[in-house]
Amino acid sequence: MDKVGIGLLGYGTVGSGVGKLLRKNAGDITLATGKQVTLRRVLEKDPGFSRPDLDPALLTTRFEDILEDPAISVVVELIGGTDAALDFQLRALKAGKHVVTANKQLLAQHGAELFDAAEESGVHLRFEASAVGAVPVIKVLRESLVAAEVNTVFGIVNGTTNYMLSAMAETGADYGDVLKEAQRLGYAEADPTEDVGGKDAAAKMAILSSIAFHSRTGLDDVPFEGITKISSTDIAHGARLGLVAKLLGVAKLIDGRMNVRVYPAFLPQAHPLAGVKGAYNAVFLTSDAFDEIMLFGPGAGSIPTASAVIGDIISVVNTVKGSFVRNCLCYKDLPFFPDADMVSRFYLRLRVMDRPGVLARVSALFGEHGVSIRSMVQEGGGDEAELVLLLHPVREAQFFAALQQISALSDVHGEPAVIRVEGEA
Ligand SMILES: NC(=O)c1ccc[n+]([C@@H]2O[C@H](COP(=O)([O-])OP(=O)(O)OC[C@H]3O[C@@H](n4cnc5c(N)ncnc54)[C@H](OP(=O)(O)O)[C@@H]3O)[C@@H](O)[C@H]2O)c1
Repeated sequence: MDKVGIGLLGYGTVGSGVGKLLRKNAGDITLATGKQVTLRRVLEKDPGFSRPDLDPALLTTRFEDILEDPAISVVVELIGGTDAALDFQLRALKAGKHVVTANKQLLAQHGAELFDAAEESGVHLRFEASAVGAVPVIKVLRESLVAAEVNTVFGIVNGTTNYMLSAMAETGADYGDVLKEAQRLGYAEADPTEDVGGKDAAAKMAILSSIAFHSRTGLDDVPFEGITKISSTDIAHGARLGLVAKLLGVAKLIDGRMNVRVYPAFLPQAHPLAGVKGAYNAVFLTSDAFDEIMLFGPGAGSIPTASAVIGDIISVVNTVKGSFVRNCLCYKDLPFFPDADMVSRFYLRLRVMDRPGVLARVSALFGEHGVSIRSMVQEGGGDEAELVLLLHPVREAQFFAALQQISALSDVHGEPAVIRVEGEA
């Protein structure tokens, strides 16, 4: 029986999960592939690294031990980061080894270089676990839906922020308290910046949109906003309006141009994504060919992520030489659709002085910029009055021009709260 040697870079959260699944499911993997897939070497930084489930004889601190081992044909990179990981992946690909990775930031920042190296060597670069963890979105987009002309990919692609927004909605607690609780429970890292600031979701959307639209999108092409400005007040107003707050990755194909962004948005309570709670992820795909498809499941965690990595290993091992599903079918080089010309619906909360004429002044400025108000409610009085508005779809440039003038009115104080509204309402 053919043997396939795996060189594993990193034995942390996901790497140790891969080690565990390779051992536990060795029989099934052999049945599925007809090959014996074994872990031959594990790279870690610390020569004293030891784990009860890791045979010390497999451990090395020299990448060359993996690179130069002819029995290793698949390198699984799970160290994270963009420095050593880039170097190791490029050297492995150039040496003719297949690479499997979960490293979203590396792919979103250096995808072109890596895919070119894979192409030149005629090897696979597989990355299912880099976006939406255990949920097989990339395989579905790349293989099952390759001819379906997907025109929208939008969804909840970050579990930390979904956990936090769900907890804010359920308990009424504010952002800071929920973040502390998420850190205590291990849903948020000690430094949560990439998650709460939207960069993690932006990297995933760069990957997903590249695969869906057959055109490369990098992290620099994805403007992102996180949830740091979302308050329990807005979540409560949203609930009264039948809306649920989510951090969404939104990739749209409009007249042959792409717009890919990450922002917090309200969804109608009846929208399938609105019911996705806790640390779960879900991706909603639309196309004229199939209308709507939703994929849902755990977006992170040792074993769920490791199972996606194993799926990639099996896909690599099972591909017969010469019958190649391309790593990234990014041949189109589509232009981007400017954010300012996107048509969006907005929720807006303004803190105003309760003076005669304030509603008229706000409405007049919106009117001058062609922004139409769908509903407006005033809450409270005196200095603490608030206007909560829902707007009809509008070109974003018009909305933000009106908002700039409204914010400058002497009746308006503090920073306005602005949240887009997605989905049919
Ligand atoms: N955790 C998840 O649920 C999840 C989900 C989806 C994707 N991912 C992605 O999967 C990758 C791995 O994440 P993880 O959570 O498993 O990370 P992790 O727990 O920090 O594990 C990484 C391991 O690699 C080691 N390492 C780091 N740099 C190294 C180097 N230059 N040479 C040798 N060893 C090195 C680390 O050692 P030290 O601890 O000594 O630095 C650590 O043991 C990342 O790209 C991440 O974005 C993770």
